[in-house]
Amino acid sequence: MIRLGIIGFGNISTTLLTLLKDVLEDPLEHLTIVCRPEYESQVNQIMREDFNDVALENSITSNIETLINNKPNLVVECAGHDAVTEHIPQVLSAGFDTVVASVGALADAALADSLYDAAHKGKARLIIPAGAIGGVDLLASLKKHGKLEVSYRGIKPPAAWSGTLADKLMNLDHLSEETVIFSGSAREAASNYPKNANVAATIALAGAGFEATKTELVADPNATGNIHEYSVNCPLAHYTLRVESLPSSGNSKTSVTTVYSIMREITNRIGPIVI
Ligand SMILES: NC(=O)c1ccc[n+]([C@@H]2O[C@H](COP(=O)([O-])OP(=O)(O)OC[C@H]3O[C@@H](n4cnc5c(N)ncnc54)[C@H](O)[C@@H]3O)[C@@H](O)[C@H]2O)c1
Repeated sequence: MIRLGIIGFGNISTTLLTLLKDVLEDPLEHLTIVCRPEYESQVNQIMREDFNDVALENSITSNIETLINNKPNLVVECAGHDAVTEHIPQVLSAGFDTVVASVGALADAALADSLYDAAHKGKARLIIPAGAIGGVDLLASLKKHGKLEVSYRGIKPPAAWSGTLADKLMNLDHLSEETVIFSGSAREAASNYPKNANVAATIALAGAGFEATKTELVADPNATGNIHEYSVNCPLAHYTLRVESLPSSGNSKTSVTTVYSIMREITNRIGPIVI
């Protein structure tokens, strides 16, 4: 049994809670949800109606101090880049291990430094999940050898790019073929497309870094889901990994594999086996 804190109550959190209902043998000891103040009563109602049995005790709040006072064993951020800036330095420096889903936020070097300092100060761990992609274990291992060449391509249907910079650059509704909407470094991708470049950021952090990770973002009217592919070349090994994932039902920008990866971060902290 663990005490869990979740920051954000959108698509990832609610899908995650639905999965936890199925996979947990025993309820969590305690669950804190941190949401925006204006959603508190709505979140309370949804928790009561749909997720009451995920934990023995629930606490819904918009105040991060409440989460800290509830002493979670693990905190999961799934709220967005602003929430990383607003809450995570405080949570880490208070000593609580935190899984950050909005990995692209770490492309901001000053914010990344403040998170590392906070984790150091609090003797806590900043945990970067594999998220929508896999194979990050091998990439992070090969990083120790160095001399990595890494390129990433993220392909999503045009609708997944709506409301992003691409929407201003082209008419997404009228694309008839695969169209590259961005080509450059993982750092530029993460700052220009914050909601769509978390995978680029994860690969960059695991491997060759934000500047050296070549990134292409693509809108494809024929894509039925979100496709992430990356290639790694180094003197020890080379591999290409391609994941075709369904989008989450609640947010076409988010691949559903992300939610399963975050679930694994939780279940790996329960029970005798970590894999
Ligand atoms: N690592 C990955 O591979 C990956 C993949 C997809 C998405 N993500 C990240 O996960 C984040 C969440 O995704 P989602 O699909 O659940 O988005 P979503 O928009 O459905 O949900 C986000 C929720 O967080 C809430 N929120 C925003 N700021 C907050 C704050 N300061 N405090 C508390 N709550 C706050 C919003 O009200 C919303 O309910 C995305 O913003 C993205 O950065 C990561």
